[in-house]
Amino acid sequence: NKNETSNIVWHQSDITKEDRQKLHGHKSLMIWFTGLSGSGKSTIANALQHELYKDGSSVYLLDGDNLRHGINRNLTFTEEDRKENVRRTAEVGKLFVDAGVVVLAALISPYAADREQARILFEPEEFVEVYVKCSLQECEKRDPKGLYKRARLGEIKQFTGISQPYEEPQNPEITIDTTVMSVKECVQEIQSYLKNKIHLR
Ligand code: PPS
Repeated sequence: NKNETSNIVWHQSDITKEDRQKLHGHKSLMIWFTGLSGSGKSTIANALQHELYKDGSSVYLLDGDNLRHGINRNLTFTEEDRKENVRRTAEVGKLFVDAGVVVLAALISPYAADREQARILFEPEEFVEVYVKCSLQECEKRDPKGLYKRARLGEIKQFTGISQPYEEPQNPEITIDTTVMSVKECVQEIQSYLKNKIHLR
């Protein structure tokens, strides 16, 4: 936004992202998980975080639910607020990537355009979109927080998949189908992508 930034200059840090990556001993990047509520984003992101940590990587998980208790606490679930939710999280993630960290973001992020805005903040090889695919029927069956039930009763308005859209990713780097794959298999699939395509370590 030109109005907000036109009188502000950018100060170049004399320690670069590359310096920090060297210190951590690996590349830094954003791994962006998108999918319906109850699809398994948080579970898989947590399990992946655990594996990467065990391997000695500096890794940090930005979980949508958790961020909504802090930096995103003033945001609701309107289309506009979800957009801002995704924008802020991507910007925070960008700072982490600049700091040399492998960052995982787990947000429904239902709108393709918002995810594309997040993507373009990063270098092409720094952004890995993971579509956590799971049918609405299965998510609704799992209903771990009882939210689908409440959404069907009309107690929660604007619920993704029920009264608001979820736009499936058309070209994600990775798709994991949690209706047929175990958590372990999903994590292995992502890890092998990171190893073979990104050369994370
Ligand atoms: S978004 O769309 O990316 O801004 O959503 P996110 O920040 O990931 O937050 C989703 C979690 O908030 C709970 N919740 C809702 N989800 C969808 N729609 C509505 N209306 C809603 N209200 C509350 C829900 O627990 C989501 O958690 P997950 O982990 O996705 O199940």
